[in-house]
Amino acid sequence: MAKLSKEEAKERIGKLKAEINKIRYHYHVLDESIVPEGVKDSLQHELQELEQEYPEFITPDSPTQRVGGKPLEKFEKVTHETPMLSLNDAFSFEELKAWEERIKKVVGLSKLDYYAELKIDGFAIALVYENGVFVEGSTRGDGRTGENVTQNLKTIESIPLNLKPIEQNTKEKEFYERIKGRVEVRGEVYLSKKEFERINKEQEAKGLPTYANPRNLAAGSIRQLDPRVAAGRKLDTYIYELTTDLGQKTHEDEHKIIKSLGFKTSKDTKYCPNLQCIQEFYDFQGKRREKLPFQIDGMVLIVNDEDLFKRLGVVGKTPRGAIAYKFPPEEVTTKLLDIRVNVGRTGAVTPYAVMEPVKVAGSTVSRATLHNEDEIKRKDIKIGDTVILRKAGDVIPEVVSPIKDLRTGKEKEFKMPKECPICGGPVVRPKGEAVARCLSKDCFAIEKERVIHFVSKDAFDIIGLGEKIVEQLFGAGLVTEPADIFALTEGDLKPLERFAEKSAKNLIDSIQEKKTVTLPRFIYALGIRHVGAQTAQDLADHFGDLNKLEKASVEELQEVEGIGDVAAKSIYEWFRDKKNINLLKKLKEHGVSYEKVRKTHELDGKTFVITGSLESMTREEAEEEIRKRGGKASSSVSKTTDYVVVGENPGSKLQKAEKLGVKTIDEKEFKKILS
Ligand code: IVH
Repeated sequence: MAKLSKEEAKERIGKLKAEINKIRYHYHVLDESIVPEGVKDSLQHELQELEQEYPEFITPDSPTQRVGGKPLEKFEKVTHETPMLSLNDAFSFEELKAWEERIKKVVGLSKLDYYAELKIDGFAIALVYENGVFVEGSTRGDGRTGENVTQNLKTIESIPLNLKPIEQNTKEKEFYERIKGRVEVRGEVYLSKKEFERINKEQEAKGLPTYANPRNLAAGSIRQLDPRVAAGRKLDTYIYELTTDLGQKTHEDEHKIIKSLGFKTSKDTKYCPNLQCIQEFYDFQGKRREKLPFQIDGMVLIVNDEDLFKRLGVVGKTPRGAIAYKFPPEEVTTKLLDIRVNVGRTGAVTPYAVMEPVKVAGSTVSRATLHNEDEIKRKDIKIGDTVILRKAGDVIPEVVSPIKDLRTGKEKEFKMPKECPICGGPVVRPKGEAVARCLSKDCFAIEKERVIHFVSKDAFDIIGLGEKIVEQLFGAGLVTEPADIFALTEGDLKPLERFAEKSAKNLIDSIQEKKTVTLPRFIYALGIRHVGAQTAQDLADHFGDLNKLEKASVEELQEVEGIGDVAAKSIYEWFRDKKNINLLKKLKEHGVSYEKVRKTHELDGKTFVITGSLESMTREEAEEEIRKRGGKASSSVSKTTDYVVVGENPGSKLQKAEKLGVKTIDEKEFKKILS
C-alpha cells in the first residue's frame, strides 16, 4: 500500500477503528457475523501498523489497546462510588412469597411488580466510562473496595472501549450530552461451558489444578496480573445494572438504556406483574438451563420501580428489593462410601462410586461411574473421602474431586480387583489400555440373567423392569447384582436413555412397593438351581422362615416333601456361597424382606392341576393363587392330585384325571374354593 501522509493516516486510523468496532459489536454483543472471519484481524493488523508509524494517534479506546501492557506488579485498589451489593437467596416459592410479604410491609403496598433475569454463574465487575471512554474496570472485592482490573477487562470483546450511539435514529449530540462525565455499569464476566471445559482440559494437560466451576475460572482469569492470560480465554459479559442516573424509571428501562449504550445484555429477561409469573419464568428457564451455552444458578428478580427499589433500602450488604431465586444446586458434597466395579457386556470392569445419597440438581443420587483406574488416580479419589459431586440437569452424575483438606488419614486407596466380582475369573488390564477386563466370556450374561430372574413375574414381580432396562442398568454401572435394584433412585435413572422424569419415578415406585414379598417368592427369586416356584413354595411351607432354611442341613432339606437329593444339595450349597451370603446381607441392608406372618393356609396340602385355559386369569395367575393359599400347583396328574381344574379346550390331563378318579372342577368351582 502506498505510504499515507500524516493527515491521511489519521483519517484512515479513525475509519479503521470505527469499522473494527462495528464488526466487534455485531459479533460479540449481538452474536451475528457481518463479515467473513479474518476480516477483522486483517483490518486490525493494518491499524496496528499505522499506529506504530504514528504513535501519536493511539487512543486508549483503540481496538489495538485491548491486549497490551505488561504484567502488573499488583492490582491497584478501587473504591466503589456506591457499594457493590450481593443478593439474598430463596430456594422455594414459599420463601419468595415470604420475601414479598416482608417488603410489601416495608413500603406499605399491597401489590408489587418485578423484572426477572438469569443469574449467571460468573464474576461481578464494574465498568466506568468518562465522557464515553472506558477508563476503569474493577472487581467487587469486599463490596466497598475492589481491584482495578481494567487491563484484563479490556481484552473482553463484548465490553465497548467507548460508548457510541447504537440506535440509528439517535441524535449523536444528544447521546454524547447524556453520557457526558461519568457513567458506570455493572455486570457479570462469564465463560461458556465449552470454554470452561477447554481451559480445564488445558490445565490438566499442563498438570495444573482445574477450576471447580465457571465462576472460579472467570475470577481466576480476571484476577491475573498478566493480561495475556485473560486475552487467551474467551471471556464474555452480560451487563445488568446502570448505577448512573440516565433517566431510568424502572429496571426494565435500565436494561434498555444499557443495551442502547452498546453493552451486551441478556435477552432472557421478563417483566412480571406478580410472583406467579416469576414462577412460570423460573420453571421455563430451569428446563432450558442445561441447553444454555453458559451456566446459570438461578434467577434474579428485582422490584421493577426504581424509586421503590431505593426506598426499600439495603440491609447489610444486600438490597431488600432484589432476591436470587436459586435453582437446585448442581454441585454438592457427599461421602464416598465405597468404590465397586461392574462388569459390562464386553467384559469391561468399570469402577463406580457408592456415595451417601444426596440431592443434586433436584434428584437424589448415590452412584456415579468413575470410568477407569487412571481416572481415579488422576483425581486422587480415595474411599472415605468427602467428594464434590456434580450433576448438571439430567446428565450422568460425576465425581469432580475429593476435598483433601477434610481427610482423616483413614481413607483407602482403590485397587482394581484381580478377580472378577461376578464370576471370579481373572481381571486383566492389557498394557497401554485404560480398561480392565474380565476374561471369562459369559460373565455379564449370567449375572444379567440372575437379575432378570430376580425381578420376574413369579419372583419380585417388579413392573417396568424388563430385560432391556436391566441391561441398561448394568451398562451404567448402577446394578451388578439383584440387591442393587433396591438402592436405585430417580436421580440414577433420569440420565439414562428412555427415562423421562415420569418413567423414572414409576420404576422407583414399583421397586419400593415390592420391598416385601411372600416368602415363596423371595426364595424363588434367589435363583437357586433346582428351585422352581413350586419347590420354593414347599420350602416356605416347611420352614416358614428364611433363617431356618438357611441353616438347614442336607438331611433336613431332604425331608421336605418334593425335594430330592440333588435339589437338597444345591440349596445347601447355595446358602454357603460367599457371594450369596453377601446378597442376602445386602438385601437386608436395603430393607428387602418377606412377609413374616404365615397366612392362614386354607389350601394346605391340596394339590391342583390346571388343564385348558381359564377365562378370568392366566394359568400362572391361577397357580400363584393356589400357592398363596398353601396349596400346590402341579403340572401332571397323579393319584395324589386333589383337584384338576378344567378350563376351555382341556388337554389329556382331563382324561387322566377321569381314569385315576381324581376330582375335576370347572373355573366357577375353582374360584369358589379360592374365595
Ligand atoms: S443484580 C444488587 N443480576 O449475583 C445486586 N446479579 O448474589 C445486583 N449476578 O453480585 C445484582 N447474574 O455477581 C444481578 N442478572 C443478574 C446477575 C447477578 C449474576 C451475580 C452478581 C451479584 C450476585 C448476587
